[in-house]
Amino acid sequence: MIFLGYLRGCAQCTSATDEFTIIRGLALQQNNRQVVWITGASSGIGAALAKTYSHKGAKLLLTARNSQNLELTRASLSAPELAEIYPADVTIREDMSHLMDKFDSLGSFPDTIILNAGTYKPMSVADFSSGSIREIMDLNFHSVALAIELLLPRLKSRGTGHIAVVSSLAADKGFPFAGAYSASKCALVRLCESLQVELLDLGIYLSVVQPGFVSTPLTAKNKFPMPFMIGADDAASLIFKKLQKKHLSIRFPWQMSWIMRVISCLPESLALKVNRWMAK
Ligand SMILES: NC(=O)c1ccc[n+]([C@@H]2O[C@H](COP(=O)([O-])OP(=O)(O)OC[C@H]3O[C@@H](n4cnc5c(N)ncnc54)[C@H](OP(=O)(O)O)[C@@H]3O)[C@@H](O)[C@H]2O)c1
Repeated sequence: MIFLGYLRGCAQCTSATDEFTIIRGLALQQNNRQVVWITGASSGIGAALAKTYSHKGAKLLLTARNSQNLELTRASLSAPELAEIYPADVTIREDMSHLMDKFDSLGSFPDTIILNAGTYKPMSVADFSSGSIREIMDLNFHSVALAIELLLPRLKSRGTGHIAVVSSLAADKGFPFAGAYSASKCALVRLCESLQVELLDLGIYLSVVQPGFVSTPLTAKNKFPMPFMIGADDAASLIFKKLQKKHLSIRFPWQMSWIMRVISCLPESLALKVNRWMAK
């Protein structure tokens, strides 16, 4: 079914005059401009996505908690006049409901939504805490569920829309010190997989983005080796291209994606050896 829906989506693609693909049935708004809402747009991958979409002529709605950093993102865009800043904490229902009301009143509700805000915090057995896990789940998982809940009635009534959820290749496997992060990102993948078919039948695409290591303030804190790390701009350009083609699963870089696929298929004894080596 997902495959059929995907084919249906591809069949709707016309050859575009530029890279900004025009999709029939996807309500491109005012002047055929794509309206894109990005959460976590003040830094890293989110800020790079804003730059990429701005370069392609999209109208942008940018969200994060820190409005000064959002202003810096806006200043870095090729078309800052087409970007609006909506500071909010994505974990707070009132903030998010308020945002939806504002978007409703704009007359140009976003047709592409990138739920990217997230965090990583290492946690060992020594500092194991259900409270820390709850905090990570709140931001990385529950905030996405909340956004989807608030978006669905709006997108359903339009019969169109594209939501992209930023997970991670870390969703594939539990590694030492990354349990809470990995669990939160895996929960996102499973949630999206289970919703995709029903949503396709409603005309709504739900993509899961699983990056490997990307150079951002989040990874700058890491002290361990990060193989095949790519720059945030490269990551954003890759995500943009795949989202325009309506890919439902976006995994990159390919080398890390395959390594993760292989590691997740290893027999238990070998998988344990890999984790022992990583824990050193
Ligand atoms: N970098 C990587 O290697 C990598 C790999 C795989 C997946 N990812 C995922 O990609 C996403 C972006 O990561 P990044 O590396 O770009 O991280 P980043 O540079 O730390 O950016 C995180 C963004 O999320 C925002 N944010 C954090 N808490 C928020 C909240 N409660 N409400 C609203 N916004 C909030 C931050 O802004 P404020 O602090 O101003 O709110 C910031 O804009 C995350 O979901 C991450 O898990 C990253």
